[in-house]
Amino acid sequence: MEIPILVLLSMLIACNSWLTVGARHQYQWTVQYAKTNPDGYFRTVIGIDDGTKWQFPGPVVRVAKGEWVTVLLHNGLPTEATSIHWHGQHQRETPWMDGVQQITQYPILPTKIFNYTFHADISGTHWYHSHTGGQYTDGLFGALIVDDPNDPYRDLPENIVFINEWYHQTVIDTFDIFTEYQPTGHFYNPLVDFVSGLFNGKGRYNCSLLTSFDNNTCIPDSPYERFVVEYNQTYRFRFISAGSQFTYILSVDQHNLTVVAIDGNYVQPHTTQQLVIEIGQRYDVLVHMNQPPDNYWIRAVTERTLNEFNAILQYSTASNNSEPKYSWNLTTGTILLDSKPLIPTNVNTFSLRPPNFTKTVFLNITCHEPVIDKCFVNEKQLRLPSIPTLLTMFQNQVAPYNTTNIFDLAYGDNVLVIINNFINGSHPMHLHGHDFYVLAAGPTSQTSIINFNEERDAGSFNKENPPRRDTISLPRQSWLAIGFVADNGCCSLMLYDISAFKKRNNK
Ligand SMILES: *[C@@H]1O[C@H](CO)[C@@H](O)[C@H](O)[C@H]1NC(C)=O
Ligand SMILES: *[C@@H]1O[C@H](CO)[C@@H](O)[C@H](O)[C@H]1NC(C)=O
Ligand SMILES: *[C@@H]1O[C@H](CO)[C@@H](O)[C@H](O)[C@H]1NC(C)=O
Ligand SMILES: *[C@@H]1O[C@H](CO)[C@@H](O)[C@H](O)[C@H]1NC(C)=O
Ligand SMILES: *[C@@H]1O[C@H](CO)[C@@H](O)[C@H](O)[C@H]1NC(C)=O
Ligand SMILES: *[C@@H]1O[C@H](CO)[C@@H](O)[C@H](O)[C@H]1NC(C)=O
Ligand SMILES: *[C@@H]1O[C@H](CO)[C@@H](O)[C@H](O)[C@H]1NC(C)=O
Ligand SMILES: *[C@@H]1O[C@H](CO)[C@@H](O)[C@H](O)[C@H]1NC(C)=O
Ligand SMILES: *[C@@H]1O[C@H](CO)[C@@H](O)[C@H](O)[C@H]1NC(C)=O
Ligand SMILES: *[C@@H]1O[C@H](CO)[C@@H](O)[C@H](O)[C@H]1NC(C)=O
Ligand SMILES: *[C@@H]1O[C@H](CO)[C@@H](O)[C@H](O)[C@H]1NC(C)=O
Repeated sequence: MEIPILVLLSMLIACNSWLTVGARHQYQWTVQYAKTNPDGYFRTVIGIDDGTKWQFPGPVVRVAKGEWVTVLLHNGLPTEATSIHWHGQHQRETPWMDGVQQITQYPILPTKIFNYTFHADISGTHWYHSHTGGQYTDGLFGALIVDDPNDPYRDLPENIVFINEWYHQTVIDTFDIFTEYQPTGHFYNPLVDFVSGLFNGKGRYNCSLLTSFDNNTCIPDSPYERFVVEYNQTYRFRFISAGSQFTYILSVDQHNLTVVAIDGNYVQPHTTQQLVIEIGQRYDVLVHMNQPPDNYWIRAVTERTLNEFNAILQYSTASNNSEPKYSWNLTTGTILLDSKPLIPTNVNTFSLRPPNFTKTVFLNITCHEPVIDKCFVNEKQLRLPSIPTLLTMFQNQVAPYNTTNIFDLAYGDNVLVIINNFINGSHPMHLHGHDFYVLAAGPTSQTSIINFNEERDAGSFNKENPPRRDTISLPRQSWLAIGFVADNGCCSLMLYDISAFKKRNNK
């Protein structure tokens, strides 16, 4: 499903001279297909060649806060366009570098090169991914780490940990059947069961489930991703969910997880045994290696179907051939369900209390069952405009109001966004260009729909020091309240995006 919602500021402010500060890192990449077998099974995967080798997940972009990044992205896909969104960066000086197809740019056609240049001014664990069709589900994503010079955990050894579910068909192949029967539909909520899951591009599919296989179609006992650690050392794990449809519960057998940052924002350390990570979210987690040296499962479990996939935490003195003993009871331990207990460490400068909101935006999200591809925001369905919205705005033309939800905000508005979810399923919500304050979320029920009620619910807002992040789960059949300041400098565009499973090519 894909329901981007546009929120456009009504003001255009001249951009600062944006090329004068900071060091610059330059990368030259080619987006390419490769036939490879991340979980044993061979299929076409979209990855990135950085001049040394083809990689999936893509190469890590790692820079210091304040530096400039240039990625010269050559589209080496023969038949499809592409674009890259730098999830976590606010693009205050360069809104046209946000990478959203038909909203901030025309997608990059085959053989063409796009020069992505932006200021990496938001530190922490972030990621980049295709924002054209469903390409990131087919592999086009990678880590974007922006180092903070004052990072209290900078001396710890660390691992980047991508998790995503995996399919044996490309997105195009999976959904052609839908487009055949729903020629007008641009929205998909198929909830296709995944076949396996990957940690950093590695997983294990049981090849015996295929009717026939040989070493050209599936290689059994595909290796798990292993994180080799030293006893009595504390590690930082940068968990990033590149999932497409599912929310995961993460855990490491016998070990505590201490959350210290969410979507790049430091929080007071909070210890849990399992944490729920929504699509697009990042959790920086400290793990102390205080258990008998051995191999331990790292688990990602979907809430919905209890599918599980794994990586291995291996103490350096343990056998690298053996697999962990199954020893963790997933029904025990504390589960971190949402952001509420995560208190930002930086001082609260929050002044977004209800009397202070200058603008309230209501978003009602509905799907008309049983036609699963008919989903709406405030009764409107997205049609990607033929001319990118940002271009239309820069040319002072009218945005396509009739096909997209557009809200005019004044620069500096304190915006309260209330989202009512009429759908029996949770969804990730991502705000481009800003972090937001997580004010409140309604209770969930599978049998009834609970809408936001100002009289009843406004009092429940977290007014003290609400968590800040850029991606959150909208609870099923319930509501969510977030606040943000519309202060994205020279830029004039924000985008919400619920993207559970994106269709490629929009045909
Ligand atoms: C990429 O864009 C930046 C900013 O405009 C510019 O300084 C740089 O020269 C460009 N690089 C190439 C190879 O065109
Ligand atoms: C793999 O699948 C086969 C066929 O269903 C089954 O017999 C076997 O137990 C499975 N192996 C594992 C490790 O799950
Ligand atoms: C397939 O590969 C495995 C391990 O790579 C090897 O042991 C086996 O002999 C191969 N089988 C065939 C039919 O080539
Ligand atoms: C673990 O590390 C701490 C601090 O580095 C040290 O004081 C302690 O002796 C170590 N414990 C073991 C069992 O090695
Ligand atoms: C996990 O944390 C709890 C309390 O925060 C503590 O009692 C327990 O010993 C810790 N377990 C491990 C394996 O460190
Ligand atoms: C295990 O470690 C040894 C020594 O580092 C190495 O030679 C071997 O390839 C490793 N085996 C596996 C399965 O990773
Ligand atoms: C797992 O936890 C459940 C619920 O607390 C309990 O009933 C069950 O016995 C536990 N299983 C194991 C293997 O510890
Ligand atoms: C409203 O904003 C002002 C200025 O930032 C602040 O002083 C005041 O405390 C805020 N009021 C509330 C109720 O948060
Ligand atoms: C959203 O739904 C609520 C509850 O049904 C309703 O009161 C409100 O008018 C709706 N708002 C919009 C913008 O559709
Ligand atoms: C939206 O408005 C444009 C321009 O006014 C018009 O051409 C188009 O048909 C409208 N689309 C819909 C779905 O109403
Ligand atoms: C919502 O979904 C759950 C399963 O995820 C199901 O048990 C429940 O009946 C559904 N509720 C409605 C109102 O469809």
